[in-house]
Amino acid sequence: MKSPIIGIDLGTTNSCGAVSDENGNVTLIPYRGGQFTVPSIFAIDDKGNDLVGYEAQRQWQLNPKNTVFGAKRLLGVNFESEIVREMIKRVGYEIKRGDADDITIVVGGKDLRLTDISSRILGKIREVASSYLGEDIKRAVVTVPAYYNDRQRQGVYEAGELVGLEIVRIINEPTAAALAYGARKNTNESVAVYDLGGGTFDLSVISIRDRVFEVRSTGGNIFLGGIDFDNALIQYILSDFNTQHGIDLATDPIAMQRIRDMAERVKVDLSARHEVPLSVPFITMAGGGKPLDLNMIVRRVDLEALTAHLVDKTFDTCARVIDEAGLKPSEIDQVLLVGGQTRMPLIQNRIADFFGKVPSKSVHPDEAVAIGAALYAWSLDDRSDLRFQLLDVLPMAISIEKADATLHRLFGRNCSVPNQCQVTFTTHRDNQKDLVMRIVQGDAATVHDNTLLGEFTFADLRPGGAGSVRVEVVFTVSAEGILSLTAKDLDTGTQMSHTVKIES
Ligand SMILES: Nc1ncnc2c1ncn2[C@@H]1O[C@H](COP(=O)(O)OP(=O)(O)OP(=O)(O)O)[C@@H](O)[C@H]1O
Ligand SMILES: [Mg+2]
Repeated sequence: MKSPIIGIDLGTTNSCGAVSDENGNVTLIPYRGGQFTVPSIFAIDDKGNDLVGYEAQRQWQLNPKNTVFGAKRLLGVNFESEIVREMIKRVGYEIKRGDADDITIVVGGKDLRLTDISSRILGKIREVASSYLGEDIKRAVVTVPAYYNDRQRQGVYEAGELVGLEIVRIINEPTAAALAYGARKNTNESVAVYDLGGGTFDLSVISIRDRVFEVRSTGGNIFLGGIDFDNALIQYILSDFNTQHGIDLATDPIAMQRIRDMAERVKVDLSARHEVPLSVPFITMAGGGKPLDLNMIVRRVDLEALTAHLVDKTFDTCARVIDEAGLKPSEIDQVLLVGGQTRMPLIQNRIADFFGKVPSKSVHPDEAVAIGAALYAWSLDDRSDLRFQLLDVLPMAISIEKADATLHRLFGRNCSVPNQCQVTFTTHRDNQKDLVMRIVQGDAATVHDNTLLGEFTFADLRPGGAGSVRVEVVFTVSAEGILSLTAKDLDTGTQMSHTVKIES
């Protein structure tokens, strides 16, 4: 008998696996200490050992240079992008330009790609699942932010391949959460999934009707999450310390790592309390070798003031996405909270104001995504009687660059997937040999402001005068939001294959 397909929530800060038993009951896969999540952290220690999860987290403060966190944010991102400049300022590990403007991370003296890092985390979840279930796990359904583009989705597939884990399907995190909420009940309603995790924000409006889960619209920001709330607090702490002692701690990686840990802890505590003391002893030395401690009290109102702009951004997205679904906030029947950062009281209050109703507590913010992935995995099993249909959408438009550098839109944002369209190209030179097209994804009006998915070349065109060779290209977006294309000579019917080059 085949081993089960597990569900994996590959998170920015925490990853989590879940599996369904033969009766369709889903359990989260526990790790050694009884935790259900594994920190998405990879490190190489001074002896050259690979460490993943808690082992990596434990030595983080002392080895910030060789400890990688937040890798999910960088997957499939171009080295030139703004987010890379931001990340370089904020992480202890080295980020440098890789091949074709990809990103390379230096850990333990080795050059690693983002897919290598993600593959280590996937490998860890598989290892934990295999030992828990007592059989070799080979297949998984993996979730990604709804707002991931084609390149990022392909990156997840590659990460799976690197570690020999077959990813049978990628589904969007908010869609998975909606499955956890409604796959087993007969319900007809419109739900909004507000998912604010460690690194990303997604808002999806999903209508559930007769076991059909139809995403009406989606939007988000893959660079907005709990890490940014931590960073706002870190800046506040640094500037307070600087005012008191005239010392900039930002230049000291070990001190920064201790502050980062403490800031996150204080932020989390402030969800339950109004005031939290923050104390890091012997953070640095003053002139004359006198040790200095970091001591302050942070109030919930301070944190709220420091992060209000981040919370506002999420509601700008909410307003737009709900409008695109053709609904008003009051027409949403349930708001599902997903992601650890939604425990912040300010966020729950703002959600209640915006939607005019208290968010539902019926899914667990840390577990819903993995559970949904496991339910989806179980629905693929022949023995399963779980039947539902997922209809998802494309998060950002896909376009081709025209000769005059403007864009021709192939698929608009929020169009349903899978989807297909055809474009016929005509040669414009005598004996033109190949057809080259650059494809980008994003909602911006210019090529430059979107993400390049690749430069596709169809070679060996039939010889002929300009305008005499017609090539029909079929663009297909899979249910997972991944683009593929095929072409044929319209007059001879000959199929042509293409090569892809990703560059910038
Ligand atoms: N009680 C709390 N109050 C505020 N923030 C919290 C609380 N508990 C956890 N968090 C924050 O939630 C974030 C982690 O959330 P989660 O585990 O859902 O993210 P993730 O799934 O790893 O990330 P993503 O979905 O963005 O890829 C961290 O930034 C953490 O500090
Ligand atoms: Mg998450």
